[in-house]
Amino acid sequence: MKIGIPKEISNSENRVGMTPAGVLELTKLGHHVFVQSGAGENSGFDDEDYYVSGAKILPTIDRVYEQSEMIVKVKEPVEQEYDMIREDQIIFTFFHFASNKKLTEAMMKSKAVCIAYETVEEDDGSLPLLIPMSEVAGRMAIQQGAKYLEKPVKGKGLLLGGVPGVPPGKVLVLGAGTVGIQAAKMAAGLGAQVTILDVNMNKLRHVNDIMPSHVVTEFSNEYNIRKHIKTSDLVIGGILIAGARSPKLITRDMLKEMQPGAVIVDVAVDQGGCFETTRPTTHEEPAYIIDDIVHYCVSNMPGAVPHTSTVALTNVTLPYVLKLAENGWEKACRDDNALARGINIVNGKVVCEPILEAFGWKEAMA
Ligand SMILES: NC(=O)c1ccc[n+]([C@@H]2O[C@H](COP(=O)([O-])OP(=O)(O)OC[C@H]3O[C@@H](n4cnc5c(N)ncnc54)[C@H](O)[C@@H]3O)[C@@H](O)[C@H]2O)c1
Repeated sequence: MKIGIPKEISNSENRVGMTPAGVLELTKLGHHVFVQSGAGENSGFDDEDYYVSGAKILPTIDRVYEQSEMIVKVKEPVEQEYDMIREDQIIFTFFHFASNKKLTEAMMKSKAVCIAYETVEEDDGSLPLLIPMSEVAGRMAIQQGAKYLEKPVKGKGLLLGGVPGVPPGKVLVLGAGTVGIQAAKMAAGLGAQVTILDVNMNKLRHVNDIMPSHVVTEFSNEYNIRKHIKTSDLVIGGILIAGARSPKLITRDMLKEMQPGAVIVDVAVDQGGCFETTRPTTHEEPAYIIDDIVHYCVSNMPGAVPHTSTVALTNVTLPYVLKLAENGWEKACRDDNALARGINIVNGKVVCEPILEAFGWKEAMA
C-alpha cells in the first residue's frame, strides 16, 4: 500500500503521525511510504532519518495526499486539507468529529474512509490509542506541579522532594486511572507523600498493590477531599467519567482552606476540569492564580513534549497501521473489533452513533 505522512499544520502541533521506526516496519513489508519534507522535525526526526528507513521524501503536502492510499496523521485535517482528501482514501488520525460539524460534513463529502484514533476501542471498553497521552500528561503533571511550587512563579517556595532534615511535600491525586497512577508514581519517585483518591475500589486496590508504602489510597468523597486539601502542596485532577463533564470536586470556597502558594494541576481540563476555578490554558501561558492558589490547566499537555508524545502515540498506532496496510481497511476491520469501532465515516455516511447523536442526525434518520 502507498502510505502518506503529512506535516501537521494545525496550530502549535509538533507531533507527527509516524516515526522512522514505523516507516521501516512498513517498507520491510514492501509498502511505499511518502513523508512530507520536515514532517518530523519538531519531534526530533529529520528527512534523512525517514529516508534511511526507506521513505520517499516529498516536498509538499499536496503531493503526499495525491500519492497515498492511506494517510496517517495526528490531528484532524484542517480546512486546507479537505480538498486534498479523496474517495476511498483511508485517513487514520484523531478526528473528534462530534465537536466539529464542518469537518464531519467535509469528510462525508470526500467519501474517504475515516478511522478515528479516539474511538478505536477494545472489547473491555479501553481506548488503546488514548492511553499513551494520559500517561504523558500524568507524568508531566508532577514535573509541572513541582516547577510551579517554586517562588519565582508564585508557588509557596517548596522543593517537592524535600532535603535531609526538611520533609518532602504532600501531593493529593484525584482519580486512580491512567493519569492518576502515572502522577502518583512520579511524585512517589521524587519522595513526596502521596494520597490518591478514587470512587472505584478496584482501582484503589491496584494502586495499593503496586505502589510503595508512602503512596496511600483513600475513597474519594467530599469529606476526604476537604481533609486533604488543607495540607496538600500539590493537587492533581485526573478523574474521568466517560462521556460526561467532570464533576467539580473542589469548589471555589474550598480554595480558602488550602495553603497560599499551593498548586493545582487540572489534567481533566479537557473534560471541563474537576476544580470549579479551572479554565483551559495553553503552553504559552500555562498558569494563573485565584485566591493565592496557582492553577495549571493546559488542555494539551503532551504537546510540550512532542518527541516523547510522538513515539508513545506511534507505538500504539503502528500495529493498526500495519493491519490496514497488509489487509486493506475492510478485512483489517472485519478481523479486529477494536479497529472496526474506529470507523467513523465511510462511503459518505457517518457510522458512529455518538456523532449522529451529537448533531441530532439520529432522530432525523429514524
Ligand atoms: N490535559 C491534557 O493534556 C490531558 C491529556 C490526557 C488526558 N487528559 C484527561 O485526563 C483525564 C483522566 O484521564 P485518564 O486516562 O486517567 O482516565 P481514566 O478513565 O483512566 O481514569 C479516570 C479515573 O477517575 C476516577 N473517578 C471518577 N470519578 C471520580 C471521583 N469523583 N473521584 C475520584 N476519582 C474519580 C475513575 O474511577 C477512574 O479511575 C481525562 O479527562 C482525560 O481526558 C488530559
